[in-house]
Amino acid sequence: MSTKDELLNCLKEEKGKWVSGESLSRKMTVTRSAVWKHIGRLKEEGYVIESSRKKGYLLRQASDLLLANEIREGLETRIFGKGDIVHFLETDSTNLRAKALAQDGAPEGTVVIAESQTEGRGRRGRAWYSPAGEGVYVSLILRPALPPNEAAKLTLLSSVAVAETLNALTPLAARIKWPNDIMAGGRKLAGILTQVSTEMEAVDYMIVGIGINVNTPPESFPADLRSVAASVRGETGSSFPRITLLRLLLEQFETWYGRLAECGFQPVMERWKALSDIIGRRISVDLLNHRYSGEAVDIDQDGVLVLRDGRGALQRIISGDITLQDEHR
Ligand code: BTN
Repeated sequence: MSTKDELLNCLKEEKGKWVSGESLSRKMTVTRSAVWKHIGRLKEEGYVIESSRKKGYLLRQASDLLLANEIREGLETRIFGKGDIVHFLETDSTNLRAKALAQDGAPEGTVVIAESQTEGRGRRGRAWYSPAGEGVYVSLILRPALPPNEAAKLTLLSSVAVAETLNALTPLAARIKWPNDIMAGGRKLAGILTQVSTEMEAVDYMIVGIGINVNTPPESFPADLRSVAASVRGETGSSFPRITLLRLLLEQFETWYGRLAECGFQPVMERWKALSDIIGRRISVDLLNHRYSGEAVDIDQDGVLVLRDGRGALQRIISGDITLQDEHR
């Protein structure tokens, strides 16, 4: 553990009480000026620490940032977030960073987080609005023992984990729109971008990138998103601690990932179906250069959407954008 982290732990143990510079320097066997320097770093990371010549230091408030230390506190996982948690104040895209790490051999469970993204990516080449400190922008590295044609299962699994997290922590009734849009009140609250790298007919690594709009004030979404995007704050009227959401998300993800490995896809799919409201409804799906319309009949064992088109033929659709044609029942 670094001296800075050790110092933080000492302050946390004494939360609400003053701790003298002298006792900190003795405990950590560093000089008082080293203590002062590390306190400065912690303040830069967003910890609110009071300093007094006579009394020493007092931790008033933990950082709002999604720092590794904070995430790990009380995190009940064995894999995700237990190894490396890479945190950026700003980066291009956490999916790009995670991909680079995975290519360098980073293990399953590595977590990449950013406070803001300058090139946040969405599905189908779209951008993901990623303002600083308002959302959760996280990418997970997976190395699943799955053939590439079953990778879609992990996309559905991710959306179950995100919806379950939001439903457990907030009063929202988050629903899934195939394949992986998380909706609240008819607008999009969260999105998932999965990317797969294959080698010799097997998945080498997979990146699951999750973006959740948490504390974005509704009026600050760009004009083109305002009618289609939602945030937890906008839907509930109050801000929500991003760290609590992220912790449960990692736990939920790990639970469902473990279930998939142990029990197969059936339980994931059942939950996905319960959280989605697409089966039996009239939909249209836009693919790159074709539009299918018809009834959503099923999600099959591979996570593929089965649609009965106007001529009664069954179409298997791996990915695309769906629009619900009928009114909500
Ligand atoms: C979508 O619904 O279009 C998918 C959005 C995925 C956004 C997340 S934010 C974290 C990760 N990094 C990215 O650049 N994209 C994903």
